[in-house]
Amino acid sequence: GALRPAARPLHGLRALVTAGPTHEPIDPVRYLANRSSGRQGYAIANALARAGATVTLVSGPTTLPPPPGVELRRVETAVQMLAACEAALPCDIAVCTAAVADWRVAGAGAHKIKKTPGAPPPTLTLVPNPDILAHLSQPGPMRPRLVVGFAAETDDVRDNATAKRQRKGCDWIIANDVRAETGIMGGDENEVTLITATGCEHWPRMSKDAVAQGLARRIVAAFAAIPDT
Ligand code: CTP
Ligand code: CA
Repeated sequence: GALRPAARPLHGLRALVTAGPTHEPIDPVRYLANRSSGRQGYAIANALARAGATVTLVSGPTTLPPPPGVELRRVETAVQMLAACEAALPCDIAVCTAAVADWRVAGAGAHKIKKTPGAPPPTLTLVPNPDILAHLSQPGPMRPRLVVGFAAETDDVRDNATAKRQRKGCDWIIANDVRAETGIMGGDENEVTLITATGCEHWPRMSKDAVAQGLARRIVAAFAAIPDT
């Protein structure tokens, strides 16, 4: 039978979630990447879909199964991730959890770099990757009504994340402390601070699924407060 609307409060809204790392080729067998399991992003895609949203999950390489009911677009590089995000527009909600490599290797080619005995190691020239969150946050007719970023920090978490929210132009940023001793990277739990234009809210340590559900609840409240366009 049909679910009551109250059970699917995001019904009729489209959401875009980025997740996982990107892999930036050095040559056909080697790559540069950030550390990311993709778990928090997959949990958010799942929570938004369960709340009734139509969800596109643009994911770099992970070992996770796609959440049920979510449209999964697999990509490898940041340039591909940006193109897949643009193809998913327009949408109402964008949540960028991906650990996008900040740089890619200039001139990565089709030929494997070989070790030459006695020769020095190769020098890699890096060029900046597109900033997908900043791109989605730019004002304009295609801007999602709510854009949420993440900030993985090791130091001055709240200050860095607050500055990052302004620099990127997103509406909310979720800061987390990823110092090795927190065990958050690759783990099941997260401890985050939600930063909006009006303030900061620290959430106690909880499972990544619970963080995703908490965020989905906050998104439901935000959309209940804004009239439909
Ligand atoms: N992000 C993105 N595209 C990039 C880099 C980052 O979409 N090329 C997004 C991430 O998904 C995250 C947010 O921006 O939501 C913050 O990423 P982070 O790496 O913490 O910020 P940077 O601006 O890259 O700053 P730095 O790595 O120097 O801290
Ligand atoms: Ca970065």
